[in-house]
Amino acid sequence: MTEQVRIKLTRGVPPVESFPTEHLTECAAAALAEYGDVVLQYGPSRGFPPLLDLIAQEETAVPERQVITGPGSLQLQDFCARLLCEKDDLVYVEEPSYDRTLTVFRRAGARVVGFPLEEDGLDVETVEKRLRQGERPVLIYLIPDFQNPSGKVLSEEKRRRIVALAREYGFWIIEDAPYRKLRYRGAELSALFDLAPERVLFMSSYSKLISPGLRVGYVVTPAPLADGLAKMAEDTYINPSYFNQAIVYEFIRRGWLEPHLAQLKSLYAARLDAMLAALEEHMSALATWSRPDGGFFIGLTLRRPVPTDELLARALDYGLVLSDGRGFFANGGGDGFVRLPFCSLTPKECTAAVARLAQVVESLEEE
Ligand SMILES: Cc1ncc(COP(=O)(O)O)c(C=O)c1O
Repeated sequence: MTEQVRIKLTRGVPPVESFPTEHLTECAAAALAEYGDVVLQYGPSRGFPPLLDLIAQEETAVPERQVITGPGSLQLQDFCARLLCEKDDLVYVEEPSYDRTLTVFRRAGARVVGFPLEEDGLDVETVEKRLRQGERPVLIYLIPDFQNPSGKVLSEEKRRRIVALAREYGFWIIEDAPYRKLRYRGAELSALFDLAPERVLFMSSYSKLISPGLRVGYVVTPAPLADGLAKMAEDTYINPSYFNQAIVYEFIRRGWLEPHLAQLKSLYAARLDAMLAALEEHMSALATWSRPDGGFFIGLTLRRPVPTDELLARALDYGLVLSDGRGFFANGGGDGFVRLPFCSLTPKECTAAVARLAQVVESLEEE
């Protein structure tokens, strides 16, 4: 088994073949030629003004001063956490949720409480019950579209309910949406931000749409939070890389983003379909899993959970590198949860990965 080439099912990275390198080369040259004086200098912390303007117009039609770009959205999440959370404040999250964000909130001193994910997203019923009982979270962090790590989507009805609760109880919603534009089929649902722009911080990123190495992410915030976030950014790194932001700006201005997204969608949809077909073939008796219409991940739950350490070690024997499922669970648990990132694997690798995973689980169940 050990001679097999290992297949990595760890982090959700885009494949190198997805990078529009030639176009980005042109954009980089244009960024220097056209905006050299600006992009090579220090600047205001909100980011490269033409990109701010473009995001303000195209994404959400808000005043430009409510848009803050940064070196990836994770850094901006860190600012949001530090701005909004005081020590021991309650933060609600989905369970499972994005592991790095859980770390960000904990580092900010928050008490992070997870709520189960149902087929149609967050268990809003339980959230509501806890609020009625008197709990007062400062914010709820949600990934409504093709959630990392589960692949699930928050239903339209639940989007409206959670927004109504945020208004009633006065908590913020962080809507983290890096996968929203990677919908391979089906109709887009409302952004929480559009339902309640005064309560929602909408975050996204060009990491999954163009390239993570450029480190360009953004947050669109309710007006009262914008200056505090911008100040925190200024005090941390003065300004994000205007050069990288100008590259992204040029890519969009030239009309290259939309055709690029279309290419990504057809590349990734084939990978998703290969993985779903392999799951159907090999895993039906062993696990249940989400069937997303987009994004990077399928979340799988073993019918008979095994201790994660044993699962990871056995997977390595079979040439499979898995993430530690426990990292996605705010309140413990996670044995038997496996995140399957499919975008960076070819359809053939997706099929092989699932076949190996089935062997791993069967071998553990036989013991
Ligand atoms: C849900 C979610 N939020 C944020 C990020 C971080 O993205 P960025 O590269 O913009 O920092 C990721 C990256 O995988 C993610 O999945």
